[in-house]
Amino acid sequence: MTVLDLLGDAPPESPSEVPPVVELRGVTRQFPGDPPVHALHPADLRVGAGEYLSVVGPSGSGKSTLLNLLGLLDRPSDGEYLLDGIPTAHAGERERAALRAGHIGFVFQAFHLLPHRSVLENVLLATIYSGVPRAERRDRAVAALERVGLSHRLDFPPTVLSGGERQRTAVARAVVSQPRVLLADEPTGNLDSESSEAVLELFDELHAGGLTLLVITHEDDVSARAQRRVRIADGHLREIA
Ligand SMILES: Nc1ncnc2c1ncn2[C@@H]1O[C@H](COP(=O)(O)OP(=O)(O)OP(=O)(O)O)[C@@H](O)[C@H]1O
Ligand SMILES: [Mg+2]
Repeated sequence: MTVLDLLGDAPPESPSEVPPVVELRGVTRQFPGDPPVHALHPADLRVGAGEYLSVVGPSGSGKSTLLNLLGLLDRPSDGEYLLDGIPTAHAGERERAALRAGHIGFVFQAFHLLPHRSVLENVLLATIYSGVPRAERRDRAVAALERVGLSHRLDFPPTVLSGGERQRTAVARAVVSQPRVLLADEPTGNLDSESSEAVLELFDELHAGGLTLLVITHEDDVSARAQRRVRIADGHLREIA
């Protein structure tokens, strides 16, 4: 059975069979060099459905390295990463792309919106690759933008929006396909305190709605919003009690 077969499957019947959404087993990442950089030392992590987890650590500690692995944008040097119980480390690029599109929503510090598309188009485009039926795409995109308070900005280009509005557009894009997990890398890094608060309130609401969230940050007050916290220092992951 391939990853593509598994994507459409119904969830297992017994709750005890439900695997974590995210599971790292001894995952490492080294970058070649002289000497090589050990950006992630063997990491074990299990994140269950509906958890809101933050990973906090200083610059250069390995946060983006970890997020790139979790987002299937990079491969571990060693170890296994299971997403919804599906092994990914040795999956082919096509399978990994399908998993990424169907299972993961991304929010980045720098928004990464398409400047020449409208707010609505930016969100609509995300539905195309993730299996949302064509007839539902527009309604879903409009609903996602309503949810983040941007119904009045559907036809605007992202370039005229405030930073907070851009990040809320990015959150709508990340959740429109109903991913299994939302991965955010410094989501408030480019925002003033008021816009940061609006994005964090949105995360609280998404968590309350049952979404699994993993937020990477170097800010303690952002990290404190999560229900569970992990610290990363020099590539070592450690749970915060
Ligand atoms: N492609 C690469 N090649 C070599 N070294 C790398 C590469 N990517 C990251 N590193 C190194 O790995 C370590 C972790 O980098 P990473 O980008 O994960 O840090 P970070 O915690 O996200 O930092 P920041 O808060 O500044 O974004 C750093 O020492 C970095 O220099
Ligand atoms: Mg980083």
